[in-house]
Amino acid sequence: MEKTILVTGGLGYIGSHTVLTLINAGYKPIIVDNLCNSQPWILTQLEKLSGQKIKNHAIDCTNFSDLEAVFKNEPIHGVIHFAALKAVNESVHEPLSYYNNNVKSLLNIIELVSKYKVRKLVFSSSCTVYGTADKLPISEDHPIKTAESPYGSTKQMCERIINDCLKAKKIENAVILRYFNPIGAHSSGLIGELPLGIPNNLAPYIMQTAAGIRSSLTIYGNNYNTHDGTCIRDYIHVMDLAEAHVKSIEVMEVSATSHTLNIGTGKGNSVLDVINAFENATGIKLNYTYGERRIGDIEKIYADTNLSEEILKWKSKHSLEEAMRDSWKWQMYLKSK
Ligand code: NAD
Ligand code: UD1
Repeated sequence: MEKTILVTGGLGYIGSHTVLTLINAGYKPIIVDNLCNSQPWILTQLEKLSGQKIKNHAIDCTNFSDLEAVFKNEPIHGVIHFAALKAVNESVHEPLSYYNNNVKSLLNIIELVSKYKVRKLVFSSSCTVYGTADKLPISEDHPIKTAESPYGSTKQMCERIINDCLKAKKIENAVILRYFNPIGAHSSGLIGELPLGIPNNLAPYIMQTAAGIRSSLTIYGNNYNTHDGTCIRDYIHVMDLAEAHVKSIEVMEVSATSHTLNIGTGKGNSVLDVINAFENATGIKLNYTYGERRIGDIEKIYADTNLSEEILKWKSKHSLEEAMRDSWKWQMYLKSK
């Protein structure tokens, strides 16, 4: 029988791609998503792409009794916990919402994972927990510095909570994944990232500029100490990221084990590298200008992926150009809707 994996935030950007990857790997995903940052038609897209019915419980993970009803009624084998608020700027202005949503949701999940003896938990963390890198590529044992935003702080707290609960044997196994910069979309172009309002992140801003929704992209600074003066990040295709979640569940199938792992490509690319990849992949010339540095931006960060490759037997496969091509397909699909 297919094993049931509860995917909180499964209608969001990374969650929706993971739901499809789980199905392809023979699991049965069940979603909990309150739609605070997604839309009901994403579920229809997932059903179209997978050719099967998928259940979404439209409830809030901060509501313990609603969430417990799902654990009572479904034979949950593992949990992948994506549900969280993720806008760094917004978190600075609305810290209480971020602490309440991100931390409370995780506390509820842990309590239920413990009560219903679910032996596999995967948690979405972020490279934002590191802050500025002392050494690159950055490895998992890099010191964790004071978070630069309430959002980053919730991820640090959640990691700490999981590790304390593992030590106290409240939960058996957990894999914490520190994502670098997710980009791209499913190659069908039928699901992807749905930014609300003006995007803060680079890839959706590029797409909306090319689509004529924004007039021009501002590159935040071109006087950094990098090969072309623009900041460097580790951009990872969302389908590679999705696969890392399935591998994390599989690792916990084989042995009782817990890990904290970087999920990136191991390669650093500059803002101009991303723009070039977009132009090469689509043949579209992007309108951009150089502006001031953005406050809080880190000059460069990219992942040391040795540990994740060893533990998960996984490696990112997609190129920057593939990611740009897939995001563009998704942008075109949104335009046609
Ligand atoms: P997203 O906003 O697209 O998806 C999150 C989903 O969770 C949304 O569909 C939203 O409706 C749902 N949700 C939020 N709070 C909820 C709650 N209390 N109860 C039920 N559903 C709730 O975000 P994403 O980009 O897919 O990110 C997924 C996870 O990965 C988040 O934890 C995020 O912090 C983390 N992460 C994201 C990035 C990134 O750049 N996208 C980078 C690092 C880490
Ligand atoms: C941001 C978050 C980080 C989060 C990550 C992925 C901050 C400080 N950090 O990181 O916590 O994990 O998103 O969601 O917000 N850029 C431009 N012009 C734009 C937009 C971006 O030049 O219009 C540049 C930025 O300066 C940066 C790069 O593109 O160098 C990537 O930016 P972005 O997509 O916002 O991600 P991060 O800053 O890496």
